[in-house]
Order: sequence, then C-alpha cells, then structure tokens
Amino acid sequence: MCGIVGFTGRENALPILIKGLYSLEYRGYDSAGIAAFTRDGLRVVKTQGRIASLEEKIQSEGGLSCTCGIGHTRWATHGEPSDRNSHPHLGGRDGQGKVAVVHNGIIENYKELRERLEAHGYTFCSETDTETVAHLVDYLHTGKQEDLAKTVLAAVQRIRGSYALGVVSMDNPEEIVAARRDNPLIIGLGQGENMIASDLTAIIGRTRDYIILDDNEVAIIRPDSVAVMNEFGDVVEKAVQTVTWDMSAAEKGGYQHFMLKEIMEQPKAVADTVNPRIQNNAVVFEENGLTDERLREIENIHIVGCGSALHAGMVGKRVIEAMCRIHCTAEVASEFRYENPIIGKKDLCIVISQSGETADTLAAMRLAKQAGAFTVAIVNVVSSTIAREADGVLYTWAGPEISVATTKAYSSQLSALYLISVKIARTRGLISIGDERALCAELQRLPACIEKALESQQDMQRISTRYANRPSVFFLGRGLDYAAALEASLKLKEISYIHSEAYAAGELKHGTISLIEEGTLVVALATQPALFEKTVSNIREVVSRGAVVVLVTTDDFTGDESVCQHIIRLPKCLYEFSASLSIIPMQLLAYYIAVERNCDVDKPRNLAKSVTVE
Ligand code: F6R
Repeated sequence: MCGIVGFTGRENALPILIKGLYSLEYRGYDSAGIAAFTRDGLRVVKTQGRIASLEEKIQSEGGLSCTCGIGHTRWATHGEPSDRNSHPHLGGRDGQGKVAVVHNGIIENYKELRERLEAHGYTFCSETDTETVAHLVDYLHTGKQEDLAKTVLAAVQRIRGSYALGVVSMDNPEEIVAARRDNPLIIGLGQGENMIASDLTAIIGRTRDYIILDDNEVAIIRPDSVAVMNEFGDVVEKAVQTVTWDMSAAEKGGYQHFMLKEIMEQPKAVADTVNPRIQNNAVVFEENGLTDERLREIENIHIVGCGSALHAGMVGKRVIEAMCRIHCTAEVASEFRYENPIIGKKDLCIVISQSGETADTLAAMRLAKQAGAFTVAIVNVVSSTIAREADGVLYTWAGPEISVATTKAYSSQLSALYLISVKIARTRGLISIGDERALCAELQRLPACIEKALESQQDMQRISTRYANRPSVFFLGRGLDYAAALEASLKLKEISYIHSEAYAAGELKHGTISLIEEGTLVVALATQPALFEKTVSNIREVVSRGAVVVLVTTDDFTGDESVCQHIIRLPKCLYEFSASLSIIPMQLLAYYIAVERNCDVDKPRNLAKSVTVE
C-alpha cells in the first residue's frame, strides 16, 4: 500500500534509498521515485514501473549524488500508474517545486483542497490526492517564518484521511519532516544519520534502533537529531526500540523466491508461535490479557480479518466452536465494520492480521473495542498499530514475511487460534487436564507434521507442470477442508492469475457444477474421516462430468480413491488441526503453477502486502 523511505546523513543517500525501496517494494510496485538534494538543488526522478526502472532512469539522467532524500514505491489509488502520478510530488506555484512529498494513505478531502489551491494559482500535474499535500505545504510555508515541521502540522490539520508522509523543502536541505495518521511510519536512529520508513525491513541494513511515530505526531529528522511533536506542537519523548530479528530473515537465502523460502520456514514459524506458550503440557498466556476469569465469561466470539487472515479465522471458528461450544463468527473486516454488528460486553473479538496495519481490520477492531468487547490481536509485525491498540496481543513469531502471498504467517495464525481454543476449552472445563496435555502434545508435533507435508513438494511440482495451463480450478471441501479450500483457491488466483473458486463440496450441485466440463481441474480436500464418504460422493459428481481430480487427504483415508487422478497423502494429525497440513501442498501447487506460468510470484500484479486503505 505504498512504501516510503527517507535518509539524511553524511553518506551518499542514493544507494540507501534504493535499497530501502527494494525492501518495501512488496507494499506496492506500480511506480517509484526519489526526491533528493543535489548540488543543483531539489531533484526528483520518478517513473512508472519497478524500482529497477527507477534505477535505470537515474543512471540515464547522469546519476544522483545527495546525502538527504526521500523515496516512494507506489500502489495506485488515485490516478493510474504513470510517470506523472508517481511520487514524490512537488509543491509550488507554476511547477517551481520547493517542497517534495511522498505519501502512503488516502487524502479524503483532496478534491476540495485541490479546488482551493487551484484558486490560489496552483497548477496540478497529476491526478493524485498526494499532490494536494505538496501544494498545501508550499502554500502554508511560502512567505512565512514558520519552520517546515510546524507547516506540515498545520497542513495535516486541514487533511481528512490517512497518511504517512515524508516531506522535504529546499529551505532545509538536510531535513526530513515526517507525519502519520493511520498508516505506519518508523524512524531509524543511526550515528550521524537517521531514516524514515514504512517498515523495519528498509532500515535494518543501517541500524537496529528505531522509534514508532504515533498517530497525529510530526517528526523532524536531521543527521544528528530526531525530534517528535504531538498535534499541539509539544515535544514528546519517544521510547527507542530495537529490532530483534536478523537481516537474513528478510533475504532470500538461496531460494528463487521469498514465497518458497517462506513456505519452507513454516515448521519453524509454527514451532516459534506454539512452543513458548506451552508450559508443563498446558497452554499458558502471559502477554495477552486472556485471563481465566475473562475466558470463563465469554458469551460470543467474533473473529475478523481480511483475505488469508480471514481464512485462518474461518478455520479458527470451526475449531473453537467444536472444542469450546461458544458461538463464534468469522467475518470479513470490511463488512463487519459497516454492518452494525451485535457485540456484547462479554464478547471476545479476535483480530487477525499479519501486517497489523490493514485498515479494515483496524477499523473493525476499534468498533468492537468501542462496543465493549475484549479485543485480542493475532499479529505478526511487532508494535504494529493493531498490536498496539488491541487489549491483548498474541504475536505469531513467523519473522518478516516478504512475499505478498502469505504462507508462514497464515500457518502461524492457525496455531495461535488452536492455542486460544485449547485454552478456552480447558478454562471452561470442557476438556480435562489429560485432554489438554494430549492437545498440547499434538500442537507441538505440528511442526514435524508440516515438515512431512512439505515432502509433497516434488509431487506438487509435477502436478503443477501438467495443469498450469488450465483456465480455471475448483477447490472442494467440507468443514475445515472448506475453510482450507478457500485459502488454497486464494493462493492460486492471486499469484498465478488462474480463475479459481472454492466451494463447500455439498454446495457445488446447487449451481456451480454447471461450470464443470471435460478436463476441468478439481482439487478435493478430505482430511476429516467423518466426512470422507460425503466428499467422495461429491468427487464422483464432478468426475462423472469430466473433471480431473487431485485428492488431498490423510494417511488413513478410507474412501474410494480410484476416481481421482492424483492423491496427496498427509501425515496423520489431530483432525482439528488438519488445515495446517492440507494447506501445505496447496501453497506448493499455487507456487509451482505461478512459476510455470512465468508469473512474478513474490509481487503479483495489482496487489500489495499491507493494505492500509479501505
Ligand atoms: C493473501 C494475503 C492477503 C492478506 C490480507 C490481510 O495471500 O496475504 O489476503 O491476508 O490482505 O493482510 P493482513 O494479514 O496483513 O491484515
């Protein structure tokens, strides 16, 4: 959802900005640009396309030597991807830009601001909402003695919407001013140099110390100092945090794509999420406010999230209802926030988000909190907005996830939900100490089972090569397998651009089966013994209409498999946890089909990893 980076120091800023942009490219990759102070003044180079195109353009224009600059990688919202809509945008009358701005977010009142600025003689060169900020800052700054930070503060007070901003002005060529509301922004603290960035991956090459800018704060970043003020202009003291993970976690480590690396990292991600929370064969939560008293009182559970996080929630809903017998819903965050949901004061709202910044999920959480529910966030990015605002946090210790398509964060979310489920069930006396011990042992066995499921890699590669040119793929399953099928289908369509649908196996015959024809690829998930026969009947229905079926099932599958062309067997685990295994060959299927089709696996078209707009 756009990435921003800025550097001010003594070294050449260009390679630092470019490296930062590469690490933020997953946030958007329609276009990129840099504004920097050179001997000739403030220069902007920007282009439609990837960072590599920006590098080429800078080279072709004779390079860019600077010690202070800001950069941007864009995911288009207002205005198509094009050179002129790329950031940074210059502010100033008649194109005489004295101020340059990079922005992540949406300025909701940009039309009205634009009209007013046009009336004051400003000419707009782009269709973006961001250009209004650049002109507005220039307008408020021109002819006044006020420093840039105060001007930016005055500007953001006229803005409705969300923003993370990096602003530079010709008046102060060593200074970057940053501001944020509802979009992430951190400040990296170095020795004689400082940075701003949308996330930590852009700064860890230079420093491990950082501060998080909070909503409505404005920061002044110079090589030797960082000062932060609140919305009233008062200086605020910020806590310095330190990155705990290693640089290698954000590198490919010999894999062709981050996605494959992250698929392979799933046993560790799940172990790191589960193990610290199991002590003496019991689930122990120390950090998240889910006290026994609170868990005993819960009346309803609302799980909210978007995309894969929602799909993890759909698995969680089924596991929680089966184990805890509490009414639980899993809802699309963007729907939940506007449907006036019925939320009680004794309800628990579980918010799931890898990035911890997804705008709809954040808004849904705020709504639930306001209604009096206790909110607990299952989040991967430490200190992200959702993590900070939730009443309690259960971090998924998956490490940085770079590929846009989530894999290891999804798997860790599932295990966090299993932990919550076991904890609630035991606290409410629905399972015995012995049951809890057995469930904890199963949870701790999951990483080994995932490792085994990863052995399907070669089979999935072979199957993918064979079916990569199919125009459409259907995923079927019942219960937990249906929830996993939804995630399998999303994985395939988002990275391979093949149309795909996931259906509750018993529902297909109510309409969608008309799409099944000779050669249609159907992937059937069947990991629940109680439903084996039912799913096999549904498989027969599609086979008799010409479908080719890949069956993903367990070692102890007892149904008739003769109707399926390919069978992938997964190691046996507790049925409640089977989605953690069935998704593994599905991720591999999506991955290898996308590779076979020469798709940009880690950066699929039109997508961004962190969706900070509605
Ligand atoms: C799909 C995917 C997305 C995210 C969704 C929510 O592979 O990654 O569907 O799951 O955009 O993002 P987070 O989890 O950051 O809230």
